[in-house]
Amino acid sequence: MSTDILSHTEAGVMTITFNRPERKNSITSAMYAALADAMAAAEADASVRVVLLQGQESIFSAGNDIGDFLNKPPAGMDSPVFRFLRGIAAFPKPLIAAVCGPAVGVGTTLLFHCDLVYAGDNAAFSMPFVNLGLCPEAASSLLVPQMLGYHRAAEALLLGEPFMAEAALEVGLVNRVVPPTEANGIAQAIARKLAAKPLSSLVETKRLMKKGQQALVVQQMADEGASFGRMLQEPAAKEAFGAFMAKRKPDFSKV
Ligand code: COA
Repeated sequence: MSTDILSHTEAGVMTITFNRPERKNSITSAMYAALADAMAAAEADASVRVVLLQGQESIFSAGNDIGDFLNKPPAGMDSPVFRFLRGIAAFPKPLIAAVCGPAVGVGTTLLFHCDLVYAGDNAAFSMPFVNLGLCPEAASSLLVPQMLGYHRAAEALLLGEPFMAEAALEVGLVNRVVPPTEANGIAQAIARKLAAKPLSSLVETKRLMKKGQQALVVQQMADEGASFGRMLQEPAAKEAFGAFMAKRKPDFSKV
């Protein structure tokens, strides 16, 4: 496994850490592959009862690596990013996240597939797909309106502006807001509390809570994936990525 994704298991909890802080934990396709493999291993390993995803005190994830979007765009539904997204959407055991600092793009949308989310008071969530000439992914076009209500979802997904931990708490995206220095520790303690409970009851309870819309989520991810893949190649996204790499403002007036 790459050192950009760290994983270790203790007391029934597999802790997966985004470990590329110098690039704000932006996620490359190699990192998606490592994440997908770790989730598959966690599902198969009976000694893993809970998975915890975390970053550092100042950054959760800046989302997809934009250089990777330009050079190695995901090719089809078997690509590492889609393997990871399907993995978290169908993960049968409890999945927890500890989020501090920016959580951009997939850094936020993955949270809609977590069972419990603990946020540092510096957490800033954003889904700026439109600003990048793209569309939502990870079934967020279904799950964000469900959780936030349509108009707040439109604000988050059409304007793409960040919202902070307290707002995320208010809409139910996070369970608790804590000091950033404590977020990973608190999430770890809760994960261990869950890991001490009967796994079969946890798995069955989660299955029953989610089964009503599992098929819808899978379908939405596939629909979004087809659009997202197409839009990555279109002028608006090319302009947005080029602007990011050149550290200038994008100009969408001609696209
Ligand atoms: N892909 C590739 N590189 C990224 C990145 C990403 N998604 N996010 C940050 N980086 C790089 C920056 O280019 C910068 O590189 P440099 O040191 O060579 O200049 C480095 O990581 C540090 O980022 P910086 O922007 O200076 O940090 P910041 O603390 O000022 O801002 C963010 C942090 C996350 C708010 C900001 O980096 C950001 O908005 N990133 C892009 C997020 C995005 O649009 N993601 C795609 C979602 S689909």
